[in-house]
Amino acid sequence: MKQAFSKTPLGSGGTFLKNVFIKAATYEGMFEKGQPSKQLIDHHVTLAKGGVGLSTVSYGAVSEKGKTFKEQMVVSEKTSAKLKLLANEVHAAGGKISMQLTHCGYFSKNKKVNPPLAPSRVLNTYGLLSGMVFSKAMNTADMKEVAQDFSLAATLLKTLGFDAVEIHLGHGYLLSQFLSPWSNKRRDAYGGSIENRARFPLEVVDAVIDKVGEEFPVLVKLNLSDGFKGGFTLDDCKYVTKELESRTCAAIILSGGFTSKTPFYLMRGKVPLWGMIQNGRNWLEKITMALFGPFIVRPYPYTSNFFLDQAREIRQSVNIPLAYLGGVDSMKGIEEILEEGFDFVVIGRALIHDPEFINKLETRQIKQSNCDHCNKCVVEMDRDGIRCVLRDEEAKMVSWQTNVARRTKSRA
Ligand SMILES: Cc1cc2nc3c(=O)[nH]c(=O)nc-3n(C[C@H](O)[C@H](O)[C@H](O)COP(=O)(O)O)c2cc1C
Repeated sequence: MKQAFSKTPLGSGGTFLKNVFIKAATYEGMFEKGQPSKQLIDHHVTLAKGGVGLSTVSYGAVSEKGKTFKEQMVVSEKTSAKLKLLANEVHAAGGKISMQLTHCGYFSKNKKVNPPLAPSRVLNTYGLLSGMVFSKAMNTADMKEVAQDFSLAATLLKTLGFDAVEIHLGHGYLLSQFLSPWSNKRRDAYGGSIENRARFPLEVVDAVIDKVGEEFPVLVKLNLSDGFKGGFTLDDCKYVTKELESRTCAAIILSGGFTSKTPFYLMRGKVPLWGMIQNGRNWLEKITMALFGPFIVRPYPYTSNFFLDQAREIRQSVNIPLAYLGGVDSMKGIEEILEEGFDFVVIGRALIHDPEFINKLETRQIKQSNCDHCNKCVVEMDRDGIRCVLRDEEAKMVSWQTNVARRTKSRA
């Protein structure tokens, strides 16, 4: 069994993490006109200081066409100076840094690319109110271009000093749209059977590994299942993980859910509907969210280690480093994951709530996270950047109590 706080190899090229912990990609919303902000750099430096072995910068688009939001960052020469600074600062803080590379496919409100790309022509419910009603079915030239964009972005990050890259094959973005029979209706070699649906995502993985070399750590984030009937299944996942086993991936991060259909399947817990309504960019968006939100954004009850039953099946079927993700919130839960034979432990909200979660577990100051899965952090990422609302309220309360105590003492 892996030891949580021991040095752990990532890939075969001599990269080591100080422990098994990876900060999950959680969209930070900390960009200024598409450039990584100081807030973003500080965010990852704080996580490194707080003890995570590898922090992941989230949702870096591989091209302008791959952006969901206008203000999202594209990994390119234009953003490279700030990204290099980010990597250097994280290293100076004793951490390691990865970037999640994505193409949103048709999950887009970025009007600059209309129609958005997808495996097939489908209705884009997410971009409907932005006038981006249907997607364009990609042709082979589009696919070639996208594979090249992924490999160029990964190569650039390697030269900028990043320690790893994560290719997003999950959550209903482009590569996941290819994997899912719900969004992939193609009748050529890229649609139909799982062998065909997986062809393009695997070509992208191959293109990246080919460019960065087998020694540079390439992680893959993959769904266990999409979380609805007619979507990508656990059997499909078994096929893809077997295929990845024969490639030199540093690890597969197992997750689940399809953002345009089952957005809270990947997180579980409360749905912050009111905040989501307020975040609408205009009255039409607000009203639509108020009317249809409760039907579209269904809640899923939170439990600790909520993907463990599905992830265990994958653990038992392949011999490749696997990273567990989903509901990690206590030392007891972490030990359970490591006992099951997982190689890495990936954490999202417990680290948004407290970036020092890992250090506090190691020094036994705490055993359990106080994150209450209110998911208000999801609303905040679309405002001034991701933050834990609960922690900030707790901090305000402590400061108020201290002030009251001080005043009472001075009056006495
Ligand atoms: C605010 C927020 C933003 C997220 N953004 C991303 C993202 O950009 N990319 C991604 O793959 N997953 C994203 N996720 C999902 C997380 O990576 C993770 O799968 C999920 O939070 C479950 O892990 P947890 O229980 O440890 O929080 C996000 C989650 C949250 C809460």
